This record gives sequence, structure tokens and C-alpha cells, in this order.
Amino acid sequence: MSTLIKNGRIITSEQNYICDIFIENEKITLISENLNMQADTVIDAKNKYVIPGGIDVHTHLDMTSGTVTSTDDFYTGTRAAAFGGTTSIIDFAAQPKGKSFREGLAIWKEKAKGKATIDYGFHMTITELTEERINEMTEMVNEGVTSFKLFLAYPGVLMVDDATIFKAMKKSVKIGALICMHAENGMVIDEIVKETVAAGNLSPVYHALSRPTYAEAEATHRAIALAHMAGAPVYIVHLTCNDALEEVAAARAKGLPAFAETCPQYLFHSIDEMDTPDFEGAKLVFSPPLREKWNQEKLWLGLEQNILQVVATDHCPFNFKGQKDLGINDFTKIPNGGPSIENRLQLTFHGGVLENRISLNRWVEINSTNPAKIFGMYPQKGNISIGSDADIVIWDPEVEHIISAKTHHMNVDYSMYEGIKVKGNADTVLLRGKVIVQNNEFKGIAGNGNFIKRTPFGSAFV
Ligand code: URP
Ligand code: ZN
Ligand code: ZN
Repeated sequence: MSTLIKNGRIITSEQNYICDIFIENEKITLISENLNMQADTVIDAKNKYVIPGGIDVHTHLDMTSGTVTSTDDFYTGTRAAAFGGTTSIIDFAAQPKGKSFREGLAIWKEKAKGKATIDYGFHMTITELTEERINEMTEMVNEGVTSFKLFLAYPGVLMVDDATIFKAMKKSVKIGALICMHAENGMVIDEIVKETVAAGNLSPVYHALSRPTYAEAEATHRAIALAHMAGAPVYIVHLTCNDALEEVAAARAKGLPAFAETCPQYLFHSIDEMDTPDFEGAKLVFSPPLREKWNQEKLWLGLEQNILQVVATDHCPFNFKGQKDLGINDFTKIPNGGPSIENRLQLTFHGGVLENRISLNRWVEINSTNPAKIFGMYPQKGNISIGSDADIVIWDPEVEHIISAKTHHMNVDYSMYEGIKVKGNADTVLLRGKVIVQNNEFKGIAGNGNFIKRTPFGSAFV
């Protein structure tokens, strides 16, 4: 099967030029001006940008937490991602308590099987680390699971101690894996939560107020210090605020391999939106939480200045009715997480490129190229070059779109961005050369997404 994309403006992390692209057998085989070869499909991309497919390295599809399960499974979640121009995700598989990584990976592979419509990989969440599990980290890397997440938050549930993190980091250096850290000081937060509840402060905004920015900054500092002692790179997930950003900036200024992502919710929302009388604030309950509004501009600057390398979504959707409302009388019972998988490219294009905060190249870099490099998928993904997978988004920079739960494709009863008007959207989306979205219609197939066997030592290329 062959496809010819004509007249588009190709934007990569480094280039911006008008050219045609020829695709055969899932790969880009030719990039040149005025290509006139026969092709099974010809797409005219005149006046549009042609970019590498978006890569969202932080999603939670079909994830059970306590009594609730995130509402997007690997079909609805990846379909929604495709509508927004994302062609690969890395979801979080979890080590079941007391069991092996292998068992966790098998469970998550089963969840994706026959459902994923775009390509997917997995990080492995470590919940405990015995000698046997340390050895098993090598096996995971050989399986293409080259990153692990550990938590400094949620004592008694997911939190691990510093020695465990240090041991995982030391091992990661040997095998080329990357340790991803949820950086919040869980012990202190739990104390503040107890005080907050005892004082009778139970509405959603108190979730955010009981998780101060210093709890995030301290944990970010500690994660980086542990990595430094272990001689390892580290990747901070879902960074929200200037206090934590300064820790990453200081580490990078010293030349340490510290990397970090932020998420659209932290760029577009702030804590003042949570203090509403009608429980609406529950739609914005996730951890780490929203911050004071001035942090948003600092995060955009962090993205521009390469203190932050990636925008990912932390997509973890729970319905407002039936799930979020479990915490109607007590914020500690509100499921943590929000939906974004469909909106990442739209929001960062509008808020970043059109509002002159980042360049077009940087937009591609933080949404596709850096995720591919850091997580061992480059140059197969994250680029438009000969030999790369033909994961391509034809982006219409002029089309306007009002984000709404009435029209989005995520399987969740609200939008975190309801009513926000954005300019720019995915027009046509190709996964390994096959059109999966066109004319606002889904043409993908459940099960056509492939497992991405990622390579180790990816972060060395950033
Ligand atoms: O509140 C959040 N972020 N839920 C998803 C789990 C996590 O910590 O990433
Ligand atoms: Zn987390
Ligand atoms: Zn997450």
C-alpha cells in the first residue's frame, strides 16, 4: 500500500519546508519536491502543516484505583487520542502488590489487545522492589519496557522509600532504563490532609490546598539528588509549579540529566477555578494539584527554555456523575485524575504557538520528538525522515474549534476545557501510513495499534 502526501509544509523539531512525502509499507520512503509517482492514496496537504504524530507518554487507560476504573479503555482512549493528532502513547502498567513486573505487563497487554487503535508502549510502576524484582528490571527492558515509575506520594498505597528509589536508579544506569518520579512529599501531605479534614474543610479546593508547592519542590529536589547519587538520569512526571521547576532548572544548570514534563491542565487552569460552591471543582481534582495562576507563565517559559522537555496529558478520566461525586462530602474520596488525551496538540498549538510562547518547531519537539527520544522510540517515531514510521498528522492551522464534552471523543461526561475556543486541529491522521482520521471521521481499527518495543538509553539523545 502506498500513499503520497502533496504540497504540505513539513514541520519537524528542526525544519520547516514545503515538500511531498511518499509512503510505502508503513514507512516514509521518499521526501522530495514535486513527486508524481502513482500511489494508492493521494492526500493534498496544501496550506497545512505536516507533522510527526503526537506521542503522549503519560496516560492511564482502563486503570482501576480503589473502587473506580478510568472511563476510557484502550479503544475509546486511543480513538480520542487519534482525533487530537496523537498516534502513540505510553500507558502505565503496574506491578500488582507482591507480584512480578511480568504479571503486571501481561495484565496491561491484555487490556490493550484487540482494542488499541494507535501504537502503545508501557512504563512499569514499581510498588515494591525485592532482589528478584531488581533482576526482573533487565527482563522488562529486554521486553521493550524501558522506563519505570516510582512514587514519593500516597503512603501505604504506592509510596516507596528513598532506598528503593536509589536501588532502582542504580540498576537503571546499568540497563539503560529511565526512572520516572511522581514527586510529592506524601508523608507531609497526609498530615496536612488529616488537619484539613479535622477542621471540617471538605470541598474539592481543599484537595489542592493540602498539597503545597513545597511538597512538590522538596520531592523533586530529592528525586534529582537520589538520581545524582546513583549516577542516573531522572524524569519528573506532571510538574506543576515554579517551585519544582526551579529545582529542575538548578539541576540542569549543573549539567545533571534531569528531565521533566508538564501537562495541559497546569498550563490552562489554576486553583482559583476549584473554589466553586457547586462541586464543579471536583472536575479539576488530580495530583499534584492546580496552582496559583502565575505559575502557568513560568511553565510556558520552562517549555520554551528547555527546562521542561515534554508535554504529556496524565489522561486519567473519571465521570463527574457516578465517580467524581463519590467525594461530594469529602475531597479525599474524589478519584484523582482528569481527561486530556484528545486536546494536547490543540491546546499547546493555540496557547503556545499562536500566543507566541513557543515556536512551531518547539511545539513539535515537546509533543512528539522529545517524547520519542527520551523514551527510546526515535527515529522510528517523532520525526519525518526516510525510514521513519509514517505516523503523520496533517494539521490545519486555520480551523477553529470549541472544545466541549458534547463533541469530544473521550468516554467521559465532562471536558476540563469546556467552551475554550482553539484555532488549529488535526485534519488527517495517519498511523504507519494508514489514514485513521479524516473529515472528522474515525477510520482506524481496534487492534491495529502495535506494541512499541522501546530501546534503552533513549534519554542520552536529548
Ligand atoms: O491524579 C492523578 N495524576 N492521577 C493519575 C495517577 C498519577 O499519579 O499519575
Ligand atoms: Zn503520578
Ligand atoms: Zn499519571
